[in-house]
Amino acid sequence: MRSMHPLSPVAFTVAIGFFLGMSLTGCAPSEPPAPEYQPEILPLPEQLATYEEMSIPEDNPMTPEKVALGRQLFFDKRLSGDGSRSCYSCHLCENGLTDGLPTAIGAREKKLPRSSPTLWNIGYHSEFYWDGRSGSLEKQALAAWKGGNMGADLEAATARINALSGYRAQFQTVFGGEATPERIVQAISAFERTIISGNTPFDRWRAGDEAAVGEEVKRGYEVFKKLECDNCHDGVLQTDMQYHNVGIGMDAEKPDVGRFKVTGKEEDTGAFKTPTLRDIAKSGPYFHNGSVATLEESVDLMIGGGKPNKYLDRTNLKKRKATDSEKKDLIAFLGSLTNDCQLTAPKLPE
Ligand code: HEC
Ligand code: HEC
Repeated sequence: MRSMHPLSPVAFTVAIGFFLGMSLTGCAPSEPPAPEYQPEILPLPEQLATYEEMSIPEDNPMTPEKVALGRQLFFDKRLSGDGSRSCYSCHLCENGLTDGLPTAIGAREKKLPRSSPTLWNIGYHSEFYWDGRSGSLEKQALAAWKGGNMGADLEAATARINALSGYRAQFQTVFGGEATPERIVQAISAFERTIISGNTPFDRWRAGDEAAVGEEVKRGYEVFKKLECDNCHDGVLQTDMQYHNVGIGMDAEKPDVGRFKVTGKEEDTGAFKTPTLRDIAKSGPYFHNGSVATLEESVDLMIGGGKPNKYLDRTNLKKRKATDSEKKDLIAFLGSLTNDCQLTAPKLPE
């Protein structure tokens, strides 16, 4: 390649342009003040046509402005105690809205006992966490914010939000006053209710587009039903939202008792909420303790009827057999539940 002389016409024009630019920005004192923060307000997404209507709390109606505010807060690390974590830090697009770790690591590098679950279609759930101990998205968000995940002092974090004029203006518009911890979690929850998955290749096929998936996927769906995975990974959400012991972690010295801690019923020992299989190809490591690295191993484990223990749900989960080609098809079917994740970080108020 011919090397460019330092004073070639191109370099000269670039240099002139550069100096022009410099002299323009040099007029800084007469520049108008930085424009006010403009939130990106998007229309509310369509709800799942194939599922019952999402139940929205009466005291937290959805508006595009509130969702836009919640989206900023969801992505804002300044909410956390040490400025290191936003909600999004552990619920990332590229990891199927999980964090890609076996078990999560919270603010101040605090080790948390469980794996980050996906948030797809979370607004359709009524109980939250692997053990369902939280009764609303609002309560869950508050717990995550002040607990180990975000490690925040609510008062101090709320003051940081109120110190930013871009946030103050939005809280005024959306809630008619300044930010409070309650309003912050309401806005975040409104945003979470827009995290909807209903347009995967699998969904498009079910809606009639035969070309949306290949034959492998179609066969894999039959395998999924034949093996009765849908006893628990049921319907559009791919979860029955019930709690089952499938044996994961029961061989630990002190097993995570899961749902038992909430209900006190012995039969709930080691039972966890059935996770949705949406975006499952991206959300490893798998299970509540992140103990299984690959989707193939997870599927093998489930086909094998889970891990035997006293509380195993033997009614819904039976040891089955599948040929290698059936397994391949099943994995292809699971891959067809992958989302085109559109969650992107908004510009944040400074
Ligand atoms: C450090 C990582 C981390 C951060 C930060 C974090 N989460 Fe999570 N999230 C988790 C883990 C781990 C769980 C599961 C905990 C459990 O089941 O005990 C979870 C569970 C959830 C659930 C329940 C999902 C279900 O299937 O029931 C929701 C909703 C959620 N997080 C939203 C949020 C919001 C909102 C924020 C910000 C306020 C947030 N998360 C911040 C790791 C994180
Ligand atoms: C008895 C109900 C039940 C049946 C039947 C069932 N599952 Fe599950 N599945 C669960 C529960 C509950 C978990 C989470 C358990 C845990 O983390 O301790 C799970 C977890 C998984 C995971 C890991 C999900 C994640 O996000 O980490 C995969 C993959 C999976 N199941 C696939 C299957 C397949 C494939 C079948 C059929 C061969 C099947 N399951 C049958 C209840 C069930």
